[in-house]
Amino acid sequence: RVVIEEFLDGQEVSVLAFADGEHIVPMVSAQDHKRIFDNDKGLNTGGMGAVSPVAFADEKFMEKVEHRIIKPTIEGLRKRSIDYKGFIFLGLINVGGEPMVIEYNVRMGDPETEAVMLRVASDLVPLLAAAAKGDLGDLPLDHDPRAAATVMIVSGGYPGSYPKGKVMSGLDAADGNPDTILFHAGTAIDPQSGETVTSGGRVIAVSSYGKDLREALSRSYTIVDKVDFDGKTFRRDIGNEFI
Ligand code: GLY
Repeated sequence: RVVIEEFLDGQEVSVLAFADGEHIVPMVSAQDHKRIFDNDKGLNTGGMGAVSPVAFADEKFMEKVEHRIIKPTIEGLRKRSIDYKGFIFLGLINVGGEPMVIEYNVRMGDPETEAVMLRVASDLVPLLAAAAKGDLGDLPLDHDPRAAATVMIVSGGYPGSYPKGKVMSGLDAADGNPDTILFHAGTAIDPQSGETVTSGGRVIAVSSYGKDLREALSRSYTIVDKVDFDGKTFRRDIGNEFI
């Protein structure tokens, strides 16, 4: 059997959403940067950085997402008697202004979450409770109008094999800074020395707010430059096409 599919050529955009079994409520869009090196070179990774908003995912585009993707998804779940409650990840591609589905994930996304969560202005706990109870339709989801940019710092060698246990420095670089958050992923405390060391390929995500993407990216890169460990690897061109 041979399956022939339409070739989709365009930029990707991720839409993360809450689902309560009856409603799917999208958060703001984000764009991941999957390849390990600048200019989309090298191997695919889990994602080397994300920005939100995504310029082309404007109101018109998101209306198409709502009508052509979200509504049929709800109907499809209902038809199959799937009472899906939780996060749903729509991996889309913009083909000449038309949103097309590349993938669904029944989870959030990394590093999209580290950008999108900064922009969720509503309290998360009532939203999660409403998703569990099927009450999302009654709850407003407010978004922060500021932009958010995430730069992922990974271990040298990732997404292939990489060493662990590299001593980290500069992790206090954003302390007291309300515009930047460090999300730890592949880090650990060395039990002997008490130092923070790397313990995975995806080590730390640096996320910042900005009045626009340029400012958000500049703030993230200022902190990325201060965090250090042997083999530290990151991309310098996250979000470049939008600024
Ligand atoms: N960043 C892509 C994913 O989480 O699947």
